Amino acid sequence: MKILVINGPNLNMLGIREPDIYGKSTYTDLVSMIESYCEGEGIECECFQSNHEGAIVDKIQEAYGKVDGIVINPAAYTHTSIAILDALKTVAVPAVEVHISDISKREEFRQHSFVSAACVRTIKGLGFEGYIEAIKELQKKLP
Ligand code: DQA
Repeated sequence: MKILVINGPNLNMLGIREPDIYGKSTYTDLVSMIESYCEGEGIECECFQSNHEGAIVDKIQEAYGKVDGIVINPAAYTHTSIAILDALKTVAVPAVEVHISDISKREEFRQHSFVSAACVRTIKGLGFEGYIEAIKELQKKLP
């Protein structure tokens, strides 16, 4: 099984960025946690982060026919990006949406996700553990 983990804008600043909301651990810590889980499970995994919507769309398109599942935290693009929604629909690779914080309990503008419509599940408010939950969800769904 091969998966792609995509993180959107400002998630490279984890640890510095609003630690009361996103925690004190860094993006490097997040990648290490995901890689060590995947290694233990025999899952091939690529972690990708970008601050640019088009780069995320390109990465999703490149995944077509190459990965079995996608874990995506589109960050602020969750609430704005029809392009990322369309890219996920285009490749039709099973995708799970993750948010570190519970977006349903934050500002109103964070409560709508465009991307959810292309995802098999949305996991929110579990911190970094949400990414592991998302991978487990893909493991359940994939051979
Ligand atoms: C986020 C929530 C978004 O509203 C926000 O713009 C982010 C991170 C989360 O992981 O909780 O950048 O996706």
